Amino acid sequence: MTQTSHILCIGAGYVGGPTMAMIAAKCPHIRVTVVDINEARIAAWNSDDLPIYEPGLDTVVKIARGRNLFFSTDTEAGIRDADIIFVSVNTPTKTFGQGAGRAADLQYWEKTARQILAHSTRNKIVVEKSTLPVRTAQAMERILNSNTAGLRFDVVSNPEFLAEGTAIKDLEDPDRILIGGHETPDGRAARKAIADIYATWVPRERIIESNLWSAELSKLTANAFLAQRISSINSISALCEATEADVDEVAYAIGTDSRIGARFLKASVGFGGSCFKKDILNLVYICRSYGLNEVADYWESVVAINDWQQARFVQTMLANMFNTVAGKRIALFGFAFKADTGDTRESAAIAVARQLIAERAHVVITDPKALDNARHDLGDQAALVEFEPDPYRAAHGAHAIAVMTEWSLYRSLDYARVLASMEQPAFVFDGRNVLDHRRLFEIGFNVFPVGKSPLRHV
Ligand code: UDX
Ligand code: ADP
Repeated sequence: MTQTSHILCIGAGYVGGPTMAMIAAKCPHIRVTVVDINEARIAAWNSDDLPIYEPGLDTVVKIARGRNLFFSTDTEAGIRDADIIFVSVNTPTKTFGQGAGRAADLQYWEKTARQILAHSTRNKIVVEKSTLPVRTAQAMERILNSNTAGLRFDVVSNPEFLAEGTAIKDLEDPDRILIGGHETPDGRAARKAIADIYATWVPRERIIESNLWSAELSKLTANAFLAQRISSINSISALCEATEADVDEVAYAIGTDSRIGARFLKASVGFGGSCFKKDILNLVYICRSYGLNEVADYWESVVAINDWQQARFVQTMLANMFNTVAGKRIALFGFAFKADTGDTRESAAIAVARQLIAERAHVVITDPKALDNARHDLGDQAALVEFEPDPYRAAHGAHAIAVMTEWSLYRSLDYARVLASMEQPAFVFDGRNVLDHRRLFEIGFNVFPVGKSPLRHV
């Protein structure tokens, strides 16, 4: 295969959709088709109301859609026509059987492998885009190469490192592209075919080639290291509160050491998102399956600190609101797991809301993008909660505001107006350290940041 003419991506989610839109926009000579079993999702990709909110995504989709980018539910035809198939289906944490709550649920993944096998009539390169346990490619290869038609499938791992909210920037100007394949002539040729696609717009020196298992493991390791930095600074935030140190000052001081670096050191109510917890638990499960219990314990503590940080946040609220929030209106500012996304998967706000509901607080949730997801996340308990798009109305009559997401709009509210509408004494618990704490204190709020001394009148 010298020239790629047709790419198929199976799975039109957060990863598959934007990644394929970028490839199509940058490579007009390649026809890119994205398929999904979810008809509503494909209809949305074909409409003006895309199924995910991502700054800049509309523009990229509009450049290529209908030209060389197509969204469809016809997986069979897609497989038949493709030279290269990216597999970007969901790999959630297993909820049943062996490894429940930890291991990756590979049922969608395996189904996809079988579909590829059933509908292929010529050799193909299959690219793992979904995050997978190390050595999953081996299972994929075994299924695909069990064919009796003499077809050859070369499996390549090309993990995606994009973060939500900055997906388009991350795709357009990535730190690196990682492509893992077998160290055989066919494996190297497959790796090169994928590298050539990215080289259309990514400098060659940023395209890293490695063996298959290294690429698979690097994805899990990158997410584990990122999450570990947050748990590390969050653990120090508790010590700062006990010692009158300021966690932002500590983070700045250590971050100027070029060996440590300044990014991903923002203390918070806890990390969320679809990847960090899932990938660490997956790593922990893999370590245990190889008998590496000390390594598993080490990484598991990153998740334990994150759970503790969320619980600690609610403890701080209780301890400072006279040990009871029962019957008190509490406004959660933000529900998304971070700003600029409507995604709430594993958001710290879910745990905080549930714990406050258990304390019989009257929880009001406001968020510019995530209210539908919030309703869904709280399930049965949603009936006990108020959902209010307007932050002023959410805070009206509240005893406390708790900032869960660093949406910039929360920085520019008229807090004198907010305070005047609240019960007194009024509390702000800033789980993101984004508000002007001194100013809030001066106008009359009792302010409780993360990892800093509180500013209180009572
Ligand atoms: C992450 C990885 O960054 C990305 O490379 C990978 O492909 C997918 O997982 P994402 O989940 O979109 O991306 O979000 P990210 O920006 O990494 O933030 C994760 C969580 O950590 C958020 O809840 C965020 O608020 C929190 N966070 C991040 C902090 O609490 N402090 C920080 O300093 C940075
Ligand atoms: P990610 O964040 O990894 O992109 P998502 O859950 O956002 O994960 O998207 C995965 C997508 O894969 C979903 O839209 C789901 O419907 C789709 N999917 C799962 N299995 C298949 C399959 N066999 N064929 C086509 N699409 C699939």
